[in-house]
Amino acid sequence: MQKQRRLIIAGNWKMNKTVAEALDLVQGLKRELASLKEVDAVVCPPFTALEAVSKAILDSNIRLGAQNMSEHAGGAYTGEIAAAMLKEFSVRYVILGHSERRQYQKESDLLISRKALAAHAAAIKPIVCVGETLEERESGRTEKIIGSQLEGSLAGFSKEQMQETVLAYEPVWAIGTGRNATPQQAQEVHAFIRQTLVTLFDDAVAKRVRVQYGGSVKASNARELMSQPDVDGALVGGAALEIRSFSDIIKNSI
Ligand code: PGA
Repeated sequence: MQKQRRLIIAGNWKMNKTVAEALDLVQGLKRELASLKEVDAVVCPPFTALEAVSKAILDSNIRLGAQNMSEHAGGAYTGEIAAAMLKEFSVRYVILGHSERRQYQKESDLLISRKALAAHAAAIKPIVCVGETLEERESGRTEKIIGSQLEGSLAGFSKEQMQETVLAYEPVWAIGTGRNATPQQAQEVHAFIRQTLVTLFDDAVAKRVRVQYGGSVKASNARELMSQPDVDGALVGGAALEIRSFSDIIKNSI
């Protein structure tokens, strides 16, 4: 599949996998994806497995991501993890503003933009997530919600920082439900996201930013989703927890 932008497929392991389980998974992925060149493959284990996974993938084409980080560079913030600490494990990406964090930790667009700016300052690429709830979609407010999430979460970004950012469109109603957006529904919102980037930044930036789709991505729907012109990859939850399903998603996307 010839795409304008290089696909980036990331596994969001959420609060799953002990160190031993993480190593099993990543060793298997290394085997399965040994000859992969066409796609950027990223795994995002929990913090506790970052060190072990980082070492395990040193000699591979798999890249490391984290699932969250602090907006602060360091100091008296109990329980938080700073960008510099992630850098110690060669973390290249960090998922920010996932809907689970927006919902359970009450993360706001403003906080997400501050975290993303802190990630950029440390040369870690943020994967900034946006997405509407079912109620918002059914009341016809999808674009309004996504537009304001983008404006708030990307506030203060320079054009250069925007180009180093990955976006993830994850409709909340599709996360962990087995009910994915149809390729057409995804494409519609992805095109809207790209248009919003033209307004907030410019045409050149909008053309370069990669926008992942997330929400019940699996091997059986990956190809059709990835074939949409404005879908540049996937953020995968449940199906990223097993060697076969995650590597099949990647293989089916090429
Ligand atoms: P899911 O999760 O693939 O299990 O729907 C996606 C996500 O939350 O990133």
